[in-house]
Amino acid sequence: MADPVIYLDHQASTPCTAAVLAAMAPWWSDQCANPSSRLHRSGLRAAAALEQARSRLGAALAVDLDRQPQRLVFTSGATEANNLALKGLAEAELAAGGRRRHLITVASEHRAVLDPLRHLARHGFQLSELPVEPDGLLDPARLAAALRPDTLLVSVMAANNEIGVLQPLAAISALCRPRGIRVHCDAAQAVGHIPLRPDALGIDLLSFSGHKLGGPPGIGALLIAPGLSLAAQQHGGSQEHGLRAGTPPLPLVVGLGLAVQQAVATQPERSTRLAALRDRLWQQLQAVGGIERNGAATPRLAHNLSVRVEGVDGAALHSRLRRHLAVSSGSACAGGEPSHVLQSLGLSRQQAAASIRFGLGADTTAAEIDAAATVVQDVVTALRRGPTG
Ligand SMILES: Cc1ncc(COP(=O)(O)O)c(C=O)c1O
Repeated sequence: MADPVIYLDHQASTPCTAAVLAAMAPWWSDQCANPSSRLHRSGLRAAAALEQARSRLGAALAVDLDRQPQRLVFTSGATEANNLALKGLAEAELAAGGRRRHLITVASEHRAVLDPLRHLARHGFQLSELPVEPDGLLDPARLAAALRPDTLLVSVMAANNEIGVLQPLAAISALCRPRGIRVHCDAAQAVGHIPLRPDALGIDLLSFSGHKLGGPPGIGALLIAPGLSLAAQQHGGSQEHGLRAGTPPLPLVVGLGLAVQQAVATQPERSTRLAALRDRLWQQLQAVGGIERNGAATPRLAHNLSVRVEGVDGAALHSRLRRHLAVSSGSACAGGEPSHVLQSLGLSRQQAAASIRFGLGADTTAAEIDAAATVVQDVVTALRRGPTG
């Protein structure tokens, strides 16, 4: 029986597409082999599948990885890719005797960026966490004012995982590149959801993840600018050009390659459809009254809507919503604490807790959107009526 709860939490995780599941299937069983086993045909076939996935990712991101395969490292997800990018760059700077010790990021980043940077700040680096404007966007003038001669890196995400706003990456890299400052971008919520050409944008390090775009969890990748050296963060073998030891999970790699290829190919049509559904949801929620949108109306992801409900308790709101809807208040990774992202916009803890993130997915229908709006309306009306509601 189908789950009666409507799943609108695609920014936490998406289901694998049927094509991705089918493409992965043989690599778990009949075709199983280690891509590093080069003495038999099965191993060679596995190695070819690994490189085909890399090549697909390159084509989707407009990077020629056939000629420069070392520019992409498969990881266990965006968290690991971020760690490799940030700690790997900082350690490489130390190892090369460089003097840049200053790192910059933004208060509304995912913890998978904030925590590795804070770790570096406890180990000899200085970290500036810039505030965002009330609409969630970084003002490039604020970044310009924070840059220093010893700034090594600026890390700013492409699309926010909670409020969906798109950061001004072109302006950020235009400030950084002439100063020799490296740009890292956590694009976990952006690859396959917006057009993205990292080389043309001047992004040196780009992290992404399979389970945000119709691929499997447990796999992601880091794209690295040509010639940029990183220190490996995992040791124990020469896989992934010495940057990520350990046998790559081939079925997941195959799944990621196809998922990204498909997500990028279908993105324009999907975004148009989901933006219309997202706007339909927003219109219906506005009719309830006392519901405000979190984050800028534009530029934002087509499949995200984050709202705060005035005059209700967040815990009560979500305990009633969850009977009918799978939604979040903030990030799935925040462990129940009111979201630091929403608080970075100036929201109180209460407002952050009484926020709802709707993450639409490729299969979301208009009927589901209408049903979700009705659920919110009923729950909010009942809560505002008080204990008898
Ligand atoms: C912006 C962002 N960065 C990083 C991550 C972590 O990704 P993964 O689960 O692949 O490690 C997420 C997932 O929640 C995310 O939304």
